[in-house]
Amino acid sequence: MKFNQSIVEIITKRRSVRTYDATKNIEMNKVKVIKETLIEERTAGFRFDVVSFYELKTRKERLGTYGFIKGAELFMVGIINDDYGDRKNQSIDFGRTFERIILKATDLGLGTCWMVSTFNRKQLGQKIILRDHEHFAIVSPLGYSALKKRPVERIMRQLPKSDQRKHWEELFFHNDFKTPLAREDTGEYRIALEMLRLSPSAANTQPWRIIKQNDGYNLYVIKDNRGERHVIDCNYNDAGIAMCHFELTAEEIGLSGEWKLDPLKNNARENKIEYVSTWKSM
Ligand SMILES: Cc1cc2nc3c(=O)[nH]c(=O)nc-3n(C[C@H](O)[C@H](O)[C@H](O)COP(=O)(O)O)c2cc1C
Repeated sequence: MKFNQSIVEIITKRRSVRTYDATKNIEMNKVKVIKETLIEERTAGFRFDVVSFYELKTRKERLGTYGFIKGAELFMVGIINDDYGDRKNQSIDFGRTFERIILKATDLGLGTCWMVSTFNRKQLGQKIILRDHEHFAIVSPLGYSALKKRPVERIMRQLPKSDQRKHWEELFFHNDFKTPLAREDTGEYRIALEMLRLSPSAANTQPWRIIKQNDGYNLYVIKDNRGERHVIDCNYNDAGIAMCHFELTAEEIGLSGEWKLDPLKNNARENKIEYVSTWKSM
C-alpha cells in the first residue's frame, strides 16, 4: 500500500474520532481510493465494505452506534468468514490488514475509529447481507473530524486514557520479561518500537509485549480471558495492529525483515501471555 505522507507522521497523527463534521462531505476521489483499498485488501478469509446511511435527513442515528458516533458520513465494515484458517491467526491478520486501511484513511485526512462493540449488528445486517459463516468483525466511521468534541467523546477518551501509552519499560524487554530493553540496544529499530507503542488497542489495554532476543523481536500478547469470543479476538486484532505499525515503520526506515512464526516459541503460553510472532531481520 502506498502512502503520501511518511508513515511515522501518519501514525503520530491518528486518533480515534467519534464526532464528525456533518456539513463536510468526503470528496469523491477520496471515496474512490478508500473503495479501491477495501477491495485490494480483501483475502479469502475476510472482506470489507463501505456503507452510507445517507438516505436519512440528518446523520444522526445513521447506524446505531449507541450515541458513540455522531455526524459520520460513511462506515467501513470488516467481515470475517469463520470457515477460514484458525481463529487466532485470522484475527491477527485481520487486525494487521484493517489497520493498514485505517492508516490509509488517516493519510487522506479522514477520521476513523475501530469499533468492535459499539455498533448495532442487527441494523448493519439490514444494509449488508452476510453470507454463510460470516460475521461483522469491525466497523469504523469515516469522515472529517468536527472541531468541537462532544462531552461523550471526551469521556470516551478519558476513561481508557486514550491519549496515553504505557512506558517503554513496561512494554519492551531483553531476553526475558524481567529485563527492560535499553533503547541503545535497539539501533534503528527504536523508531519502529516507538510506533508500535502508539498502536490503538481495544479499550486502550495495550496488550502487546516485545522481547528482544539476539537480533529478533518476539511479539507476545496478554490475553484477556473473560471468555467472550470477541474479547479474545480483540487481543489478537491488537497484536495484528502492533505488527502493522512495526513493519510499515521498518519498511519506511529501510530495515528489511519480516514477521515469522518461530516453531520453538509457537504456542508458548505463560499465565496469560501468549507468543504471536518474531520479527527477523534479513
Ligand atoms: C480492536 C479494537 C476495538 C475497539 N473497539 C471500540 C469500540 O467498540 N468503541 C469505541 O468507541 N472505541 C473502540 N476502540 C478504540 C479504542 O478505545 C482506542 O483505540 C484507544 O482508546 C486508543 O485511543 P486512540 O485510538 O485515540 O489512540 C477500539 C480499538 C481497537 C484497536
